[in-house]
Formats: sequence, C-alpha cells, structure tokens
Amino acid sequence: MKLQAVLFDLDGVITDTAEYHYLAWKQMAEQIGIEIDRAFNEQLKGISRMESLERILVHGRKDGQYSMEQRRQLAADKNKHYVSLLAGLAPEHVYPGIVELLGQLAEHHVPAVLTSASKNAPQILESLGLADRFYAIVDPDGIPGKPAPDIFLKGAELAGADPRYCIGIEDAQAGIEAIKAARMFAVGIGKPELLGASGADIVYDSTVKLSLTSLLQAVKQDSSL
Ligand code: BG6
Ligand code: MG
Repeated sequence: MKLQAVLFDLDGVITDTAEYHYLAWKQMAEQIGIEIDRAFNEQLKGISRMESLERILVHGRKDGQYSMEQRRQLAADKNKHYVSLLAGLAPEHVYPGIVELLGQLAEHHVPAVLTSASKNAPQILESLGLADRFYAIVDPDGIPGKPAPDIFLKGAELAGADPRYCIGIEDAQAGIEAIKAARMFAVGIGKPELLGASGADIVYDSTVKLSLTSLLQAVKQDSSL
C-alpha cells in the first residue's frame, strides 16, 4: 500500500485531553444529579459536545427535563470548565511518539490531517506547539459526527488522498467505527477488548508504539489489504 495520508484524532491520541473532557462532564452531570463513571464515559469519547450532553441526560433519565436553552447553557458551562483545565497545556504534554511520527510523515511527504470532533482543537494544537505540523485540520462544524465516516472522508479529501490508502488513529470506539465506515485502516490507542470490538485493525496500548515503520508493517500484515 502506498500510504497517502494519516488522519489523527486529537483528544486521547495526541494528548490526554480525553481525561479533561471526562472530568468536566462528570462535574456538570453531578450538578444536575447524574452519576457518570469511566465505563459510561467510553460512550462519550469522540462524540460532539451537544450529543454527549444528550447521552448524559438520557443516562440519568432527565432528557425530558431540559429545554434547548437550558441544554445550551449546560454545554457552555461544561466547556468553560473544560477550557479552564486546558490552561496549563504545553508541548511537554504531547503523548510520546507523536512528534516523532509527525516528523517521519513529513520526511516522507505523507500529509498528517487532524480529524477531531472538538471545536477546541485549533487552540489545543496551538498550546501543544503542533499547529504547523498538520497539512489540514477538518472543521467538524456541520459534518455528521463519528461514528459516521464523514469527518475522515473529509480529511482524506483535503489531503487529496484515496480513503483506501489512508490510516486513521483513534482512542474512541465511535472513532474506530467511523474510520472503518470510511474504509480506512484503523489504528486504536487504548484497550484491545474495546477498540478491537469496534473493528480496529490493530490496537496499541500507548502512542509510544506508533511510528511510520510500525504503521506500515501493521498494514502489510493485514490480509484484507
Ligand atoms: C472529541 C472528544 O474529540 O471532541 C469528545 O472525544 C468531545 O469527548 C468532542 O465531546 C467535542 O469537543 P469540544 O471541545 O468541541 O467540546
Ligand atoms: Mg479521542
């Protein structure tokens, strides 16, 4: 396979902001009398702000109790808290292996594209010192959310790449499903039992195992390609 682009999720792949999303949602949920735990949080990973709120309200059986206006306020409160947690974010918070992988891709002229559902993504990349390391950043606004394939297909399009020759990297079950729906090779970062069940072609427990060589080897070993 001639690799044409690598599409990166952000939260939980490039840095640990997935944890901040969890903490901020947990606090917001508690304020309205809903308990969420880490197992439930797996269903929020990769999911947009408003859809995550919907899922929390349904989980707490309170979805009938809030008007659209109140939901917008709850989502805004969560985001305010989340953004405050980002205050100390700096280049040393980039997960291990990511800067090296971006360097290897650049060296081999393989575009790296950001395919995150987060509206905070540009600001986070800026804080991490990675803003100029991506060929393109997909704007999630108006694009159907993961697990729909659209954000990954848009990323491939921006890079001028054929989806069949793209690799997507994700920590979320919905993200892995989206990559597979886009007919790309799916690399999971996290637990094999969760991400494998969602269709990941390979799962690493840490980004330290990511490199251009390891990715190409994984693709080569995959009999379906
Ligand atoms: C995804 C996260 O990357 O972005 C989700 O996995 C989050 O947890 C989503 O809800 C939207 O993020 P934001 O920053 O726009 O609220
Ligand atoms: Mg993620």
